[in-house]
Amino acid sequence: MSEQTPFYVTTPIYYVNDRPHVGHAYTTLAADTLARWHRLKGSPSYSLTGTDEHGQKIEQAASKAGVSPQEHADLYSAPFRDMVSAIGASPDDFIRTTEERHKRFVHQLWRAMREAGDIYLGKYEGWYSVSDEAYFTEDELVNGKAPTGSEVSWMVEESYFFRLSKYGEALLTHIDAHPDFIQPQSRANEIKRFVEGGLQDISISRSNFSWGIPVPDDDKHVIYVWVDALSNYISALGGTESARYEQFWRASCHLIGKDILRFHAVYWPCFLMSAGLPLPKTIFAHGWWTVEGEKMSKSKGNAIDPHAAVQAVGADAFRYFLLREISFGSDGDFSQSALLTRVNSDLANDYGNLLNRTLGMLGKYRASVTPAELQPQGSGALAGFEAQLLEAHSHARGELDQAMSELRFHDALRAIWSLVSAGNKYVDQCAPWTLAKAGEERAAELDRAIYNLCELLRVVGIWTLPFLPTKAVELLEALRVAAEEWTWDRTASWGQLALGVELAKPKALFPRLEGPLLLTRAAVEAAAKSEAGVAPEFTPEVTPQTSTQDDKLPKAAPAPVEFDDFLKLHIKVAQVLTAAPHPNADRLLVLTLDAGEPEPRTVCAGIAAAYAPADLVGARVALLSNLKPRKIRGVVSQGMLLAAGEGEGVRLMSVDPSVPVGSRVS
Ligand code: MSP
Repeated sequence: MSEQTPFYVTTPIYYVNDRPHVGHAYTTLAADTLARWHRLKGSPSYSLTGTDEHGQKIEQAASKAGVSPQEHADLYSAPFRDMVSAIGASPDDFIRTTEERHKRFVHQLWRAMREAGDIYLGKYEGWYSVSDEAYFTEDELVNGKAPTGSEVSWMVEESYFFRLSKYGEALLTHIDAHPDFIQPQSRANEIKRFVEGGLQDISISRSNFSWGIPVPDDDKHVIYVWVDALSNYISALGGTESARYEQFWRASCHLIGKDILRFHAVYWPCFLMSAGLPLPKTIFAHGWWTVEGEKMSKSKGNAIDPHAAVQAVGADAFRYFLLREISFGSDGDFSQSALLTRVNSDLANDYGNLLNRTLGMLGKYRASVTPAELQPQGSGALAGFEAQLLEAHSHARGELDQAMSELRFHDALRAIWSLVSAGNKYVDQCAPWTLAKAGEERAAELDRAIYNLCELLRVVGIWTLPFLPTKAVELLEALRVAAEEWTWDRTASWGQLALGVELAKPKALFPRLEGPLLLTRAAVEAAAKSEAGVAPEFTPEVTPQTSTQDDKLPKAAPAPVEFDDFLKLHIKVAQVLTAAPHPNADRLLVLTLDAGEPEPRTVCAGIAAAYAPADLVGARVALLSNLKPRKIRGVVSQGMLLAAGEGEGVRLMSVDPSVPVGSRVS
């Protein structure tokens, strides 16, 4: 892709029937990295993610939970938005299919396909399972039953159909004429074989549930969830009349998992052809992650939780691991040991050491100031080593560019790390400590060696901006490189780091890690329970409100305590200064309190379901102030608020505003 060409990257929109896991995080951060990469190269770029909120499954889950489908969607969409920011991604837009702007385009697409004569009313037939509320084909049945074991009966339902069969030839022609259209190549071959086998018309409406976008002019039907979902890629641009669509649509790149390739590479292009719209430029299907060699599943509870992973290793290290460990397009395994190895060897050792050695030597030998002047490049006894270093730089730059244009993130990172290794080798070759011992005689060589190393860090800092956005910025700021200079072009020629400038002291960007790491929700919750005695974090899963056997048993009266024991508890009146959601636990808020002490206190409270943070500011509360501090999901809580009730019904003990802050409750 040439410079200045606009670039539009999308992720799948995620179903709101699950919590975000590493699979969702993976595509989101690949898209984020690509968008940042294109920006680095000076191209206008736009990136999109969001949530897929219609369909029977959502309707069922909501009714089971006793909430409206919209409430359910609101509840489950939010964690995806949180996940996006937790992994350091900053998409330009987050679309939800329940938004009006989305519905408008879905209707436009439907009408255009209908006007093209491609939608007709027919009958949808199949083996229907009432308990699964789903149709199954003959092939899917297992011993005459649904794969879930439930009974099925032959059902016939009125449905609108789309003439997919009409577009097979045109699709094959497009695939052949556009080698970049479906990637990797093996996936293009797979789709070609499927299309060559003959396309059948598909049912694109449902009338057995109502949580969806109504069919225009026939609201007995709702539009099939994939027609609805795929449309997000254009509805988010503002529909086909918008300037953003004009600028970006033809440069679109859909990143998806391999399981949803057919919808993207067959259905979507055919819908677009029918509506007379241009096709996306690229559809790239990536592989799937297993965890410690096993498939991720809800029942095993082994899904890697992006929040937990970020908490354990940091967002940038998590990003590095996912993009470096496997090639985008292949399946791969997420294991603790692989993660620890990558972080400790590539980040803490190779990269961290280079950084510390370089800034350490600059500090030790040159009071942290880059040389005021330099001997000409290529002069002196160390010129041969310098030539090797410069060669490593230009080679890595070419490799990196090529790899990114082919979405080979792991090769791109490998290329950057080849320069890091060249830097470490250069330190050993030049042995600056020996040069320093030689004093004035070799001072110019020492200057040049240290400058080259700082310059190398500048280049690595710029190149890693798309991959490690937080740490790269920290590094560039430490090197005093101005933000306007964070561009690909500024890494073409060697020697652009300013002379005579004081750089920051070294700071470990990536500390070494030790296992075991808490990477799943189950692991985090178990640790939180044992560490702090807190209840597990709020899980937006339907927990029936029926009483258990235990609830029905008469409760034993609490054992009496001595008055002296009561006096051990220091309960104080405090005032809420600030309140915010806990970064790692949906159930908790983090409050700072004025308890009449020199410093405000931080307290975590399990009241997020009942109170909006803003409503708490200024409130007087009762604080158990001498509870031992506890770390709760990464935040140290210095005390506990007194409250009664549970979940949404929890209420803080209130205190009359006339009672001064700091007063003891007795
Ligand atoms: N809502 C649809 C997509 C509509 S796009 C117009 C959907 N949602 S999903 O939430 O079920 O899945 C979203 C993505 O997560 C898919 O790309 C899927 O491949 C990906 N992953 C789910 N499990 C995964 C792994 N174990 N590993 C990698 N990605 C995985 O499908």
